[in-house]
Amino acid sequence: MTLDPVALAHQLRKPDGDFGEEVGQKMAEFNAAANAWTLELLDIRPRDHVLEIGFGPGEALAEAVRLTPQGYVAGIDHSETMRSMAGKRNNRALMQEHLELSLGAADELPYPDAGFDKVFAVNVVYFWQDAERCCAEIARVMKPDGRCVLFMTRPDSWFPGLKDSGVFIAREPAEFEAMLKGAGFASARSVERKLGDADCVTVIGER
Ligand SMILES: C[S@@+](CC[C@H](N)C(=O)[O-])C[C@H]1O[C@@H](n2cnc3c(N)ncnc32)[C@H](O)[C@@H]1O
Repeated sequence: MTLDPVALAHQLRKPDGDFGEEVGQKMAEFNAAANAWTLELLDIRPRDHVLEIGFGPGEALAEAVRLTPQGYVAGIDHSETMRSMAGKRNNRALMQEHLELSLGAADELPYPDAGFDKVFAVNVVYFWQDAERCCAEIARVMKPDGRCVLFMTRPDSWFPGLKDSGVFIAREPAEFEAMLKGAGFASARSVERKLGDADCVTVIGER
């Protein structure tokens, strides 16, 4: 894989074509610990309806499917390449209608109000131009008492060059806490943790 940071940043934002698939394979490898921590914090129950925003190669979706034998999982991503990759990875769950994948954007979720118990996004919030609207959309599609978890890596731990790529937006976790509360979440808090060498944070919102 070429390591031109601007090209890489664009692929991380919206993987496309063969290079996008290669980037997707790396995501599956590098984001395993982030996915595991996020899913642990979500505390998914067997009957939960779960939504992942920006599912990439679909590894966390597979785990969410495993955790919801009587539930339902939806995923949305704006990359056709990732929808195809995640679809292959989760073909059985798709056939069984346990999982539904949509092509679309976080600021306009194609779901009715109050349908999900749990919503999560791993390494996706950096790409939200209108993060306030994305948080409002999350609040809208969540059931009362639902929980959302937004995982992010601190900018100092990003791959060199991504910060200056013009593609990634660095925001403080406190900004997401405020946006979630402004969107109607009863509470929002951040938890910091090191994953390998990377400084990471999750923002946890309780609806
Ligand atoms: C860095 S990847 C992370 C993928 C996966 N969550 C993981 O941790 O391996 C970001 C993913 O979010 C998707 N994405 C970025 N911005 C998005 C948006 N505004 N709406 C929907 N999907 C988005 C990208 O297409 C990509 O698949």
